[in-house]
Order: sequence, then structure tokens, then C-alpha cells
Amino acid sequence: MKRRQFIKSAVAGSGMVLAGLAAPRAISSQSRSADSRIDILLNEPIGRIAPEIYGHFAEHLGGVVYGGIWVGEDSKVPNVGGIRKALVEALRRVKPSIVRWPGGCFADSYNWRDGVGPRSQRPRRTNFWRDAPEWPKDAPDGPWKYDTNQFGTNEFLRFCRLSGAQPYLAANVRSLTARDFYEWVEYCNSPAGTTTLSDLRAAGGERDPFKVRYWGVGNESWGCGGNFTPEEYAAEYRRFTEWVPNYGVEPAFIGAGPNSGDIDWTRRFFTKMNERRALGRMWGWALHHYSWNVSGGRTTDWRQGKGDALKYPTDEWYELLHEAERMESLLTDHWSVMGETDRQHRVKLVVDEWGAWYRPGTEAHNTHLLGQQSTMRDAALAALTLNMFNRHADKVAMANVAQLINCLQSLFLANEDKFVTTPTFHVFEMYAAHQGGQSVRTLCSAPRPSYSRNGQPATIRGLSESASLADRQLVLTVTNPEATQPRLAEIAIRGASVKSIKAMVLAAQDFHAHNSFETPHSVEPAETKIAAPRAGTLVHEFAPASVTRLQIALE
Ligand code: AHR
Repeated sequence: MKRRQFIKSAVAGSGMVLAGLAAPRAISSQSRSADSRIDILLNEPIGRIAPEIYGHFAEHLGGVVYGGIWVGEDSKVPNVGGIRKALVEALRRVKPSIVRWPGGCFADSYNWRDGVGPRSQRPRRTNFWRDAPEWPKDAPDGPWKYDTNQFGTNEFLRFCRLSGAQPYLAANVRSLTARDFYEWVEYCNSPAGTTTLSDLRAAGGERDPFKVRYWGVGNESWGCGGNFTPEEYAAEYRRFTEWVPNYGVEPAFIGAGPNSGDIDWTRRFFTKMNERRALGRMWGWALHHYSWNVSGGRTTDWRQGKGDALKYPTDEWYELLHEAERMESLLTDHWSVMGETDRQHRVKLVVDEWGAWYRPGTEAHNTHLLGQQSTMRDAALAALTLNMFNRHADKVAMANVAQLINCLQSLFLANEDKFVTTPTFHVFEMYAAHQGGQSVRTLCSAPRPSYSRNGQPATIRGLSESASLADRQLVLTVTNPEATQPRLAEIAIRGASVKSIKAMVLAAQDFHAHNSFETPHSVEPAETKIAAPRAGTLVHEFAPASVTRLQIALE
């Protein structure tokens, strides 16, 4: 069967048959036997899937804020008080639990005072990213290089409210003081009329406190956030969190954790904090992991190792997903090191930056520093990463894909009044069904796709899956990373029988497929209804390079 025909039948007929029973539809998979198997163990709960795992990140970087979120009240682009209307409407569809702001590296250069008070009086400041070598050619000056501070705390909080997200603010540890930090908390959370800062907030139109709960204590403190040693950062962390007013909102402090596999950073920080009995002052430990090196081990150079967002050979498809798969061992490795000192595991993992990072060249506009296109490969990467977070729901309390719009692994691309959703957006919309569900254990065996890694044979995980249960509704999401092969899988649900099934499939005829301003609907999921099985094991054919969600109502 040709790939084109296969995808048509997999999506239209949804590829579901029942082993051992009369087949509900005639599809090609009936003549083959399953090569994969997924067991869903309903009686083995892992933990509640925190909605915050489905979080976002917006930094004052290139076209994320200025031109992406913020267009200004006088703009011809439809807006709600200066905020892009189309973005708010689309973002609501993915149930954005949380948005992290204002950075990123930018956070450690940002003075929150610049972004409050009358907009006309706010200062212009040089943006942290002004001198980045990645700027597209001829990028003009503008608020992305010289921040006009038109988008500040009140505007961000309004954006969160409009979108239905909670705010997560990242404080400046490198270049401001602990006092500046707790005064930002005071500005946001002190009750109306109680402090000069609450009056300032009210003068900006926000009488009632914002009740911000999540506070990041710096960002990448091992690098742009101060180039600290773990011991130095532990001292800063304690200074910043030793006294912070609590206005009836228990602050959830998040420490700036490791770069990918830097176990040493985690161990030394936790050890130092434990010596001062200060671990109780931390809610989350933030890990960052980007998938960027597609060189197959040829180089570890940050620029040389990157590939193109749109033009990639099959081996690069696999290699990038292989990079993303590292997330699983990062979660378990850091978790076990955290447990050496935090034996009760009170501190949870927060992956507040993750996603694919390509070399420049596919940005939708020349103001979009680090802007890149997002294809079916990014959809697969997002889906298998979210599956890992779901499978580790006992460890991961929050995650934020980097970044929301016009940047790395974005859900949206926008320029002036043009606006499009990417395949990553569709994955988030499909996976929103997991939010708040009970993650249950799954066992999956599937052939591992093989490829050539720098001339050597290599493989990655076959099907990637996760399952959650809420009110007798089971959600199973599965990514098939096989670039050209479908996978026929038996799916056994242990502990219940099935009432009805709905399937949603995101797949494309070409694994480079993406949406653009000109072709906004090239990649879109298709939903189908499937006859409820009466007994036996489900058999489902997963399309090549696809993401599938099965919503299974249980008896
Ligand atoms: O997301 C882009 C940058 O990547 C962030 O500012 C920084 O935290 C990370 O290095």
C-alpha cells in the first residue's frame, strides 16, 4: 500500500479492528498480524497529571511578545486591549494551564518596575537579546531590540486572564536584589489599598491582587542567569526566598535547575540547600532540555550541530526524536539525585523549557529571533515528550514548552494580521484531554525504527504512549515515530470493558508537512468514531509519523 492510500484509510477508517471478533470494517490491517502491543493497567495509578504539565513560555525575545502577543491598542490587528485577539482565542482551545514570563535569559536583565505605571511614561531599555548572532539579516530596530516596556506585569496578567492560564513569573536574580523580588510579589499580591505598590497596580487598572503563586528564582543560573556555581546559586536562592510576604497565597518557588544532563548541578545544589535545612523553601526544580543536535555525535558545537527546521533527511527525523527521548532518563536521573537529600520527594520537577531548536533560516519574519517553522516532526517530538511527562506524573509538576509564538517549537506563528496554528498546537489541543486525569501504567512493546547515525546503525523507541483515566473516560495517546511504516498494535485494557471509542489522528502525507500563512490547514487532525468493541483486544493501525488520541469510554 502506498503511503498516501495508507494514511487515507488510517484516518478515515481510523484503522481499528477487534482481534478475535467480527471485524467492524474492512481495512488492510486485518490481513496482517499485530507487530506491537500496548497494555493499559487501569489498576496501577501513577499520579494525577498536573494540568501545569501543559504549560507555555513567553519571553521578551524576537517576535514572541512584540508582534506576537502584543500588537498595541491602536493596531489594525484585531486585539483586546493591545493583546492579539486571534492568539487568545486559539490559546484557549489548548487549555493553557500556565504561562511563564518574562524569560528565559531576559528575566535576569529585566526590571519589573520598567513595565508598570502609565504606558506612556515607561522607559525604553536595551533588550538582552539585541546582540544575538542569530538575528535574521536586516532585522530592523524596534521593541524586540529596545524594549518599550509596553507589555509589563499588568498586560501579562491580563493576557493570562483572557487565555485562562495561571501566571508563572521568573525573577531577576543576576542583576536585581532580593528586595526587588519581594516588592514584585508585593506589587502583584498585596491586597487593594494596603501598600503603595498595590495603589500603583490599581492605578494601572488592576485593583484586586493578581494572586500569583508560581515564582521562578532566576533562570539558568549556571549560565546567562549569573554563571554561578551550584553553591553560589544556593546562597542566592536562600537570600531571595528567606523572607517573602505571603498575602494568603503560599508562594511556590521554583529553583533554576540543570541544563539537560548536568547531574552535578542538581546534586551540589541540593546538598548545599540541605546543609542549611532550606529545601522546604522550594516547590519545584526546573530542568531545561532542548533537542537540537542532529549531527549524530559528529559534533557538540551549539551552531554546527543544529539542523534545518524544514529540510531534513529521514535520519535527521530520527536523530532529533532520539534527542527528545533523552527527557525520560533526565527525569529519572535528576529525580533520583534529588531523592538523595529530599528523601520524601517534596520538591517536584518542573521542565520549564523544552522543545526543538533549529538553526536560523525558517523564521516567518525577520524580527523573529530564534523563530522557526514547526512540522510533523515537531508534532511527534511534542507528543512523545508529553507522553513522557504523563508517564512520570508522580515526578513532573509543571512543564513549559519553549516558546509560545514566533520562536522555538511554537504553537503559533504571526506577523501583522497573519496568524497560523502549527502542528505543535494540534498536539496540545489533542493532549488537553489528559489534564487532571489519573496517569495509569502502560506497557508497550513495538519494533524500534532503525536508522543510520553518522554511518552507524541506530534505533529509537517504537510506539510512544501514555494513558490517563478520569470519570471512566480513558485517554490513550500514541506517537508512531516510524517515518514511513504503519504499526499495527494490539491494545489491551486491563480492568474494564469498553463502551465507546473516538479517535483523533494527526498525520500527513509528507513528514515535512507544516502550516504556513499561505497554507494554514496543511496539517490538521481528523476525528472519527469507532464502533465499540464487545470483547477481546483492540487492534489499531497507527499511521506512519503520526500522533493519535483514543478517547475510550469505559463501562
Ligand atoms: O528559549 C530561549 C532561551 O533558551 C532562554 O532564554 C534560555 O533560558 C535558554 O537558554
